[in-house]
Amino acid sequence: MSDKVHIFDTTLRDGEQTAGVCFSERDKIDIATRLDALRVDVIEAGFPAASAAEVRSVAAVARSVRDATVCALARAVATDIDAAAEALRDARRPRIHVFVNASDVQLAQQLGKERDEVLGIAEYAVRRARNFTDDVEFSPMDATRADPKFVAQIVRVALAAGARTINLPDTVGFALPSRCAELFAQVQRDVPEVEEAVLSFHGQDDLGFATANAIAAVSAGARQLEVVVNGIGERAGNTAFEEVVMALGIHGDSLGVHTDVDPSGIVPLSRLVEERSGVSVPPNKAVVGGNAFRHASGIHQDGVLKFRENYEVIDPAAIGHARGSEIVLGKLSGRAGFAARVRALGVSVPTDGLEGAFERFQALANEKRVVDDDDLRELFAVGA
Ligand code: KIV
Repeated sequence: MSDKVHIFDTTLRDGEQTAGVCFSERDKIDIATRLDALRVDVIEAGFPAASAAEVRSVAAVARSVRDATVCALARAVATDIDAAAEALRDARRPRIHVFVNASDVQLAQQLGKERDEVLGIAEYAVRRARNFTDDVEFSPMDATRADPKFVAQIVRVALAAGARTINLPDTVGFALPSRCAELFAQVQRDVPEVEEAVLSFHGQDDLGFATANAIAAVSAGARQLEVVVNGIGERAGNTAFEEVVMALGIHGDSLGVHTDVDPSGIVPLSRLVEERSGVSVPPNKAVVGGNAFRHASGIHQDGVLKFRENYEVIDPAAIGHARGSEIVLGKLSGRAGFAARVRALGVSVPTDGLEGAFERFQALANEKRVVDDDDLRELFAVGA
């Protein structure tokens, strides 16, 4: 039996923490309704304590979303929790996500509080959130750098106060995948009652481990992953939505898990978030980058032309990629790729044959980065 991994999308909250990003209310509604249509389980719509406008945006998302749970983030203080509750008043399925610092460094250098005091704060905050909704998530922030004994203590307190989801964040993108897996195992061993809750992972990408850490967390029992479309977010960003959905789609059987997300809208969703956030997707970005299905070298072109799966693990059509696989001609391309592009163009073979045209192509490719269709037509006109 395969377990479901809940997909918790925080594009509208942590994604908006990308330097320079500011989603309008319209942006939030458009992105949230698209996520809802793709059967994302939870949409974290924002941080209502930030401003009255943020309360209004989260409320607008709450009214627009039909099926997904709509979540609002709150620090473990009354005013934040009350703002979250107000913003979620019209949500069909409201969740309040409460967090408090848990690592010694953040307790001493940011919060200025002792561990015992923080346990009391966590208990108070979860109880207060439970007055508004049964669906309360608790995050001990910076869990991967915190003392595991304190993580166990605070998780116990949050569960007793009524938290239903326990999220263990790698807040500064510090942990190795092995450490993430160990932390999830430790918490399940030390706090057996956590079995009643959903364990979740939230990862930042400071060392480029965010997706690997998320998969390691799943392999150790996490059943919710917090993700952001295109991997944007605070500093170096977050675990990418599209990477997690596809990784679990491809490796779900071996991990014994699945998600309910429909992958067919991944690329259009990525383009929407790119446009509304103003953050360009790098060409080499996994799954949604412009080069993700472009083949440039002769050996790869030959292989993919013979059988797509020789060099692709994802079918571009299955994720809504309009262009599909592409052969891009350049310096390293070989005869197979060249002949395929020529055939696709429908130009007639010149008098010196395909080989003569290929030699002219190679000479040009050494001067130009990409030989495009116009260049090919010209090459063939010269040889005609
Ligand atoms: O990075 C983080 O720890 C967070 C928490 C609020 C989950 O964003």
